[in-house]
Amino acid sequence: MIVPPSSLRGLVIVALAAVLAALIVAGIVIALQPQPARPVAQSDPAQSSGILRLPPGAELGGAFHLVDQNGTAVTDATYAGKFMLIYFGFTFCPDVCPTELQAMATAIDDLGSPGEMVQPILISIDPERDRPEQLKQYVASFHPRLVGLTGSGEEIAAAAKAYRVYYAKGPVDADGNYVMDHTSFVYLMGPDGKLRSVFRAGAAPEVMAGEIEKQMLR
Ligand code: NI
Repeated sequence: MIVPPSSLRGLVIVALAAVLAALIVAGIVIALQPQPARPVAQSDPAQSSGILRLPPGAELGGAFHLVDQNGTAVTDATYAGKFMLIYFGFTFCPDVCPTELQAMATAIDDLGSPGEMVQPILISIDPERDRPEQLKQYVASFHPRLVGLTGSGEEIAAAAKAYRVYYAKGPVDADGNYVMDHTSFVYLMGPDGKLRSVFRAGAAPEVMAGEIEKQMLR
């Protein structure tokens, strides 16, 4: 088919208009796209406020067989049906452990009566010194419902392994004193015993309380 020059010019104009329209539509579509994720550590308020986001399906936690501050044998099943707020530490810890335990206690109190559905637990990674009687007075100084758990070296190692907690005994000084090196996270476990959230050391009590509240509504 032979197209007369004037019609050809018309076609070119229509084609250009179509291309222009397509470009405008594409521009609008791109502008409406959600922004690509920025580096998580800087942009996600949850991250900077102390909640550690684990990849979906991350498995952490599990069965433990320990004794509480009254010398009563307990397992993870003892607290089934409740949320557990678990911290691994030791009573001789000079700084980080007390801060974390205080934050846990404050968070639970801030929740009001729903906070009673949360069982705060300290699992000692220093079973040598943290016997039940030592734990008993220590936990009571933080929260009336804080439970202190200990056990044999093997039992503690098994519990720590389940929560991927690292700990190691530091050098012993002339007086027999030593410090335990240990990872410092607070674990929120659901009533089904499954991991819900992990808080970094230094997470504010209100961040913990807010996250627990959110998980309770889930
Ligand atoms: Ni500590």
